[in-house]
Amino acid sequence: MPRPIEALIHHDALAHNLGVARARALGARVWAVVKANAYGHGIERVFDALRSADGFALLDLTEAERVRGLGWRGPVLLLEGAFEARDLELCSRLHLWHTVHNEAQIDWLAAHKTETPQRVFLKLNSGMNRLGFAPAALRTAWARLNALPQVDEVSLMTHFSDADGAGGVAAQLARFERATEGLPGERSLANSAALLRHAETAAADWVRPGIMVYGSAPDHPQHTAAHWNLRPTMTLRTQVIALQQLAPGDTVGYGNTFTAAHAMRIGVVACGYADGYPRHAPSGTPVLVDGQRTQTVGRVSMDMITVDLTALPQAGVGSEVTLWGRGPSDSVLPVDDVALPAQTVAYELMCALAPRVPVRVD
Ligand SMILES: Cc1ncc(COP(=O)(O)O)c(C=O)c1O
Repeated sequence: MPRPIEALIHHDALAHNLGVARARALGARVWAVVKANAYGHGIERVFDALRSADGFALLDLTEAERVRGLGWRGPVLLLEGAFEARDLELCSRLHLWHTVHNEAQIDWLAAHKTETPQRVFLKLNSGMNRLGFAPAALRTAWARLNALPQVDEVSLMTHFSDADGAGGVAAQLARFERATEGLPGERSLANSAALLRHAETAAADWVRPGIMVYGSAPDHPQHTAAHWNLRPTMTLRTQVIALQQLAPGDTVGYGNTFTAAHAMRIGVVACGYADGYPRHAPSGTPVLVDGQRTQTVGRVSMDMITVDLTALPQAGVGSEVTLWGRGPSDSVLPVDDVALPAQTVAYELMCALAPRVPVRVD
């Protein structure tokens, strides 16, 4: 018998969450961001559920090839553009739109031989300080691109650094507007947080929601996924495989980090960090057992975690354990509730789902 662990990808939830993005986008077109193998879900597994998107945004060229291989003829945007000159050949062959964030990419375009001019998204660094032209350099870059026969249409984009936080988008938006004033072309600004929290000012022509499509609140814990009407798209579930009875003073797991203060019943669960469960999740991280919320005790090990079953006398070997996502009887454990105590974000947990976990589309 295989280990009981599996991950489920929920098509209904993906389609629902994309619908939430569209409903908030004020008429803007919607890129479904599917980089990092659709945030760990698998591009091939999410594709059908996200077909109603206006385009797919990603960054690996191999992922772009996979999207085209699935028969998608609409827009595909490379969020970091070409990494080397010959990438432009694939852009021409697969009709990829691509970001231009530095001079070298313009040089490669100028030298590129193509019969089909390409659509590019010129990126402004409005304050994130990762990719993009400085405001003072943007117009020269725009003029260079606009003059190239290899370029069809120049659109404009930027990326917010604190759309989910107190900083908001206003300062970067003001810089973007000043830097691009009077330049023609469509604009794309908003990630999930900007779309949910600042759509009136940031929706522009194309929005780029990622994490919200995968059912996590970008501004958790200020808001929950349920607050934004987002549903879990990935469930990680397994079973209790053994039980332990602890006396007061007994410890659990490596390093003896948890000591029972009273008699406890402990379930040993077939999931560990080699499955993608975060090793940093401390004692007290929530789990569902048969749909009831309880918590981990002791350290996460490679293949197992231990959970408190003291208040769940009916639970035993074979009980269903939901690490995150949908449990039995309409129970839900939002992935954000696991990410928070583990001092990480839902993005990381979903992307880290290990290859050894069998995945099923539900
Ligand atoms: C340029 C760009 N746009 C959009 C997104 C989607 O962001 P999120 O998943 O927070 O919605 C990302 C992801 O980091 C990104 O890098």
